[in-house]
Amino acid sequence: MLPEVKLKIVQDLISASSQEELIWINGYLSGIIAHGASTKPEAAPVKAGVNKITIVYGTETGNSKKLATAFGAKAKKNGINAKVVSLDQYRLTDLSKEEYFFSIISTQGEGEPPAAAKKFYDHIHLNGFELNKLKYGVLALGDTSYPLFCKSGEDVDLQLQKLGGSRIVPLQKCDVDFEEDANTWFNNALKALSSNGAAATPTAPVSVKKSPGRKTYSSKVLTNINLNDHGSFKKTHHIEISAEDVEYHPGDSIGVIPENPLATVESIIALAGIEKDKTVGYKNEPVSVFDLLRKKLNIYYLPGRVVKKYAEIVHQEIPDTRIDLLDLLRIYPVKNGAQFKDVIGVLEPITPRLYSIASSPEAHSGEIHITVAKNNFSFNNEIKYGLTSDFLSHLDVNTNLQFYVHANSQFRLPEPDKDVIMIGPGTGIAPFRSFIADRDATGATGKNWLFFGEQHFATDFLYQTEFQNWLETGVLTKMNVAFSRDQPQKVYVQHKMLREGELLFEWLESGAFVYICGAKEPMSVDVEDALLQVIQLHGSRSKSEALTYLDQMKEDGRYLKDVY
Ligand SMILES: Cc1cc2nc3c(=O)[nH]c(=O)nc-3n(C[C@H](O)[C@H](O)[C@H](O)COP(=O)(O)O)c2cc1C
Repeated sequence: MLPEVKLKIVQDLISASSQEELIWINGYLSGIIAHGASTKPEAAPVKAGVNKITIVYGTETGNSKKLATAFGAKAKKNGINAKVVSLDQYRLTDLSKEEYFFSIISTQGEGEPPAAAKKFYDHIHLNGFELNKLKYGVLALGDTSYPLFCKSGEDVDLQLQKLGGSRIVPLQKCDVDFEEDANTWFNNALKALSSNGAAATPTAPVSVKKSPGRKTYSSKVLTNINLNDHGSFKKTHHIEISAEDVEYHPGDSIGVIPENPLATVESIIALAGIEKDKTVGYKNEPVSVFDLLRKKLNIYYLPGRVVKKYAEIVHQEIPDTRIDLLDLLRIYPVKNGAQFKDVIGVLEPITPRLYSIASSPEAHSGEIHITVAKNNFSFNNEIKYGLTSDFLSHLDVNTNLQFYVHANSQFRLPEPDKDVIMIGPGTGIAPFRSFIADRDATGATGKNWLFFGEQHFATDFLYQTEFQNWLETGVLTKMNVAFSRDQPQKVYVQHKMLREGELLFEWLESGAFVYICGAKEPMSVDVEDALLQVIQLHGSRSKSEALTYLDQMKEDGRYLKDVY
């Protein structure tokens, strides 16, 4: 306790201070205590609270952006001037000038940074430079169903430290329900800022609390049909799922965890010499070996890190390569069921696969539709199918499918009166079926232009009658189709865009939003290249001016991609 005289001084000081001054005093005192410094103010090397910070975000589906914006707003409320910027717009040369720098970044692919953060990520990893002035914090978004949980956030956090930066708030990794953990991190960061970083000395990452996880649904399959006609090289399934009370927006996807094929699972169990009904502990629950191999664990194309652990268990030398579990068991057998139990312990979970939703809640009430291309590839002269597309294409009507909604706030329709240009060859058509059905059902007045492409008109024009009807009724203002193999030279959507260049540029100039969905490579690269050519040619701009034009569209949220 303080003697009364001192208590009075403190009370007077408190009542005369604003909220911001109190926050500063709080941090100031914590700083002094944390550093064991003298309690005499003139001896403490702490200057006034920070008033300027930079918050960068790297996002694919908008979560990191949402959090960066919320953190910026919170900082501003605390009297801190916060600049919030996407990592693809961030000038890398500014990094060495930064003093207080916060990075909010998700992990994509197999432990990779989002596309928008790639340049920044490579820059800090490749370039040897020093960031001695930098005081930083990282908030990492991820999903514990992926083996490399929050990997890019971890990498950025570690790398900034290696370059000489001081971590003023511990790395926080967040699972899919990130709000609460993110908010704790915001508060810790603000606390650190109120004392110029002196208040937060711990550097160990904050562990992730057991989260209730995402909301998953188990719903009935209503329809499952192949959209391609006889004679096509392709199989594209249109699947309708009952989805009462499932909330989503056009532009969102669903995540599906596929089951491993029965025959393969049975072969594995036979080779492993283990009872299929034997129960083992998995994530603190007893599960049978059969269910684990069928529904939970990845048995295909095991990554090098898993193969290495397998080699240690079976005491064999195995080359550093990716391989299926069944092949591993055939070439490097396990001794017995007990050894296989150890193998189960090192296998990683099956990761979810995302499918763009092709329906609109306004037009297809109580249902979700997806468009699934059945992938096939040849491997060792054998035709193999992609695990999830094969699983989905065989789903019987009336059986249940488990899924969750993966929101994508980066791929939303604009205001109803704005024009949209949609480029979606192949299954890239899916979100645009949702967009147009939604605009039709809601009576949106903006114009709609679709570019679609596939191999053959006769067999591969996905949703042909629907789009032709929309064209007739006028919801679809314009449609250009490119069927690559219907003539001697290949014709793709980008060729149609170039041919329509003049009108396309007019739409851009009058504020149209451009959406691209489908294959990242080569499609989205070629389409972007075509857009740049259109801007150069019809906007009389140089190449670098066209790039600036497209950058501005990105910044204005008028150039959006959902590519995979
Ligand atoms: C295709 C895909 C791959 C993903 N890979 C990983 C991963 O390897 N590790 C991880 O922790 N999270 C992974 N995630 C989960 C995302 O990081 C998580 O959904 C995050 O909230 C997305 O944030 P964003 O919207 O800011 O990009 C992946 C998500 C998708 C859609």
